[in-house]
Amino acid sequence: MPYAKRHILVTSALPYANGSIHIGHLVEYIQTDIWVRFQRLRGHNVTYVCGDDAHGTPVMLRARSLNLAPEAFIEKMNQEHLADFTRFGIAFDQYYSTHSPENARLCRDIYAKLAAGGHVIWREVEQFYDPVEQIFLPDRFIRGLCPNCRAADQYGDSCEVCGKHYSPVDLIEPRSAVSGATPIRKQSRHLFLRLENFRSSLEKLLRGGMVDTSIANKLDEWFGGELKDWDISRDAPFFGFEIPGEIGKYFYNWLDAPIGYIASLAHLLGGVEQAEEFWAQPELEIHHFIGKDIVYFHALFWPAILMGSGHRLATRLSVHGHLTVNGEKMSKSRGTFISAEQYARHLDPQWLRYYFATRLGPSPADLDLNFTDFAARVNSELVGKIANLMSRVAPMLSRLLEGQTGVITQDALGLLDAFRRAQDEMVDAYEGRHFAAVTRTACALADKANKFVEDNAPWALVKRDPEAARGVLTAALECSRILAIYLKPIVPTISAKIETCLRTGELKWSDIESSMAPTRILPFEHLINRLDERNIQVMLEETQAAPSGTDKKPTAEGKHPVVPPAGVAISATGSPPSPTTDVEPLAATCTIDQFAAVDLRVGRIVTAEAVMESDKLMRLELDVGPLGKRSILAGIKKAYTPEQLVGRLVIFCANLAPRKMKFGVSEGMILAAGAGGANVFVLGVDSGAKPGDRVH
Ligand code: 2FM
Ligand code: ZN
Repeated sequence: MPYAKRHILVTSALPYANGSIHIGHLVEYIQTDIWVRFQRLRGHNVTYVCGDDAHGTPVMLRARSLNLAPEAFIEKMNQEHLADFTRFGIAFDQYYSTHSPENARLCRDIYAKLAAGGHVIWREVEQFYDPVEQIFLPDRFIRGLCPNCRAADQYGDSCEVCGKHYSPVDLIEPRSAVSGATPIRKQSRHLFLRLENFRSSLEKLLRGGMVDTSIANKLDEWFGGELKDWDISRDAPFFGFEIPGEIGKYFYNWLDAPIGYIASLAHLLGGVEQAEEFWAQPELEIHHFIGKDIVYFHALFWPAILMGSGHRLATRLSVHGHLTVNGEKMSKSRGTFISAEQYARHLDPQWLRYYFATRLGPSPADLDLNFTDFAARVNSELVGKIANLMSRVAPMLSRLLEGQTGVITQDALGLLDAFRRAQDEMVDAYEGRHFAAVTRTACALADKANKFVEDNAPWALVKRDPEAARGVLTAALECSRILAIYLKPIVPTISAKIETCLRTGELKWSDIESSMAPTRILPFEHLINRLDERNIQVMLEETQAAPSGTDKKPTAEGKHPVVPPAGVAISATGSPPSPTTDVEPLAATCTIDQFAAVDLRVGRIVTAEAVMESDKLMRLELDVGPLGKRSILAGIKKAYTPEQLVGRLVIFCANLAPRKMKFGVSEGMILAAGAGGANVFVLGVDSGAKPGDRVH
């Protein structure tokens, strides 16, 4: 290898364990994975670790709402997350969790060093407390009127209408988003990390190349005033690690989350000591890939934690922007809040890897997934140019010349030279995360090679001069082989099929310079499908039809005739549940009058029939007494057989406007509770109730 072998540790931000992975998350994991695969392809020694961010109040509350112990809930989410990442080809060396023995030990050790170094102090704080749930409320769990513009239903830390940031105590008419109660103010002693102790080192660090200049300039603003001490403790009840020597005090999850990077490494390497040794290696490059919303944590708090506990610092923060869909924030009502699992059920993950690559550059600008552009680029570039070359040439060689390659025609030497000359440009683009430039160059090369085939018409040439035709086809296959190397980090499954067909073995970056040995190629396996835009439509209809029930949980007020198991969230089910967001416990609230306007009635299921084309929906016919009959589409197919339902009395919302769904019109929603999938329980009423009875 003409360049020195590098030793690199890479991390992606640890996703919260309380929600599913969605396409917005995937920007980061796909970006990181492409960079990691590129470095491995170049022969560098790369370790890529990640895991779930498993602690905190949102996780605790979500587990509680599902009637699960937090440990059981995060275990389930961990498996779900890893399955999602695997679908998208994210090649972690280790996917772990912050709720681990390694992390507990690291947090204890690091905290002891911070405390011994005089970097931690106690402070009295006043916080909002939910008197019903008896928990201190994180800012996102308090809603009220914005103190600046009086917009209703704003979070405790910032207003989504006017953009103002404020303290939750300034919110007008605050309410707990957990119970709906008016929160009270309560004093508590908290531990704080003294950031000012690290001021000069942090300033130096940020000007020393850890982040791009544009981000360093932004960070400069923070150093204008005093660096505020950072609250690193939380009060019980809390799901996290208890602080040694304290009763009822826990480490804030943002303290143990980045330490989780080292813990994940420890799990991979077989122990905390091994991880500490690995992390300390001076020649090791440490790269954190993160979104722009968490720069603050990685550029201030995390380096302070590392410095204060005698650890080395990261080499580089690679910061990306956020995803918009069709130019707007992802939205459940528009159906653009798409989970990784939903996407993968309808569309090929390699398409998204390619498309994100075409949109990714080194800057933290937001990137847009425009579905029209997505379909056009996948079909015209990935399928029409890149895959097209191999798809035409390999079967042609098999059909016309027994699949035997030969000597490259002289006329192709210039073309191959252009392919090889692009490598420095490709290296710079990959290294700088300018993946859009990689795909642009790859398409330009594919255009040249496709034109070469067109100009030389080997299908006609073979009749006059079979060896010349073999030379043309061999040259085109050589171009495909080099393209497979260039694009291997982005679309690894396509490159793998090319490797198999051409019998090259695992291609490395250095193979760009070599030539294929004469070979008899293997039967060609189709590389990638064209994207049919109807599949996008079906996916969007499905995600749009999903109710927002799972993220609009009712408050604790009000009684239900049949009480679900303690803590189980109640949702109305007229179609499949939607994915959950990261930390949103409650969407828009309704007034008591609006809530009272919901007309809940008893119905008897007279027929139940699984909707064949849907994996979630069941069509129910309800006898609703004097109100007649109702046909309802309910997302309970995984939880019940039709036989289990017929004859049951259920509660349904009778005054919901009929909704046109993909599989017909749904005239109401029945009430059900549970985590979703097979864990949904239709709520019943006592046997004395009659169809049509009103439920109060
Ligand atoms: O913002 C987030 O999604 C956090 N869960 C990221 C944590 S990254 C690291 F610090 F662990
Ligand atoms: Zn406002």
